[in-house]
Amino acid sequence: MAVLPFSLVRALASGLRPLRALVARRWLREAEVDALLGGLHPAWRLNRVMARVIGRDWVSDDLLALRLRCNGNERDWRAGQHVQLYLELDGVRHCRSYSLTRVERGGVIELGIRRQPDGVISNRLLDHLAVGSVLELGQAQGELYWPQQAEGVGLLAAGSGITALLGLLREALARGYAAPITLLHYVREAGQRAYMAELQALMRRHANLQVRWLLTGQGAGRFQAEHLQGMSGFALLACGPAGFVEAVRASCGAALQSEAFSPLRRVSDAGQPVRLEFARSRLQGAGDNARSLLEQAEAHGLRPAHGCRQGICASCTCLLLGGAVRDLRSGIVSAEPGQPIRLCVSAPLGDVRIDV
Ligand code: FES
Repeated sequence: MAVLPFSLVRALASGLRPLRALVARRWLREAEVDALLGGLHPAWRLNRVMARVIGRDWVSDDLLALRLRCNGNERDWRAGQHVQLYLELDGVRHCRSYSLTRVERGGVIELGIRRQPDGVISNRLLDHLAVGSVLELGQAQGELYWPQQAEGVGLLAAGSGITALLGLLREALARGYAAPITLLHYVREAGQRAYMAELQALMRRHANLQVRWLLTGQGAGRFQAEHLQGMSGFALLACGPAGFVEAVRASCGAALQSEAFSPLRRVSDAGQPVRLEFARSRLQGAGDNARSLLEQAEAHGLRPAHGCRQGICASCTCLLLGGAVRDLRSGIVSAEPGQPIRLCVSAPLGDVRIDV
């Protein structure tokens, strides 16, 4: 039960500076301050970003635009970046990465959340998250920028990759960007053309914007180099699964800003047995060479810090102390002791020792 209104929580965020200074000097503990603030409102924290759901809007058969208002602890967020969204299920804290499709004054943001088949987290968010709920988010990350010095801009999105590019597009048009823009959105089925009504309205309002949808479910719509015709001299941005981004990069032969989701390559379903040593936790155990070290650490009851679980956010980075690991996205092997590795996309090649 909240003692304070949410609007006051947000207004008071900057007034917590003296408390932050005391925590930084270790005169107060952040967890204790947060417990006190959280008792007054579930979204009030010293530094952590909590956000209240203020709207839900289905923008395709499988993609929900979720509007949230943050508690004032968000720092310089911009559309096109992504944030970690934390959710606790059955006592386990989960985290997923979602793109910021909109960032407005007053801490209002919008995320695009796509339903994943068998996705426990996305299904929970899409089916059970009600307006008024409070969630925790990480600080925004991401390096995609709207290109300024180009004859035009080509945006290539596959599936939910549209969410990262839409935020940039909305802002560029609102700022009055007048050079030609072509957006190609590759989706499996017609019902997955997310934000279609909005994009059609934008095309009617902005003569410099062209949007085309390509249906890959019929095979013919998959990315081909000729789709880039008419975009010579354009700056290109691509966002989607790793295979899609690689295909665009191979075809455009030019500097490409991109963000890829990485389906992980497994050596086999079961894998071969290996020995795992989690040095900092003083724990050893049996593992396999198929699953990521993050999954295997969790299976041994450890809770390493992590975020996206896709190799993007770097929050699971730790040191390899012995043995070798294989990057599940690229297949590249790392065997240098002391080398940083990302647990969520690294599988052991044989026996390994890591600083977890
Ligand atoms: S959890 Fe984000 S890179 Fe591993």
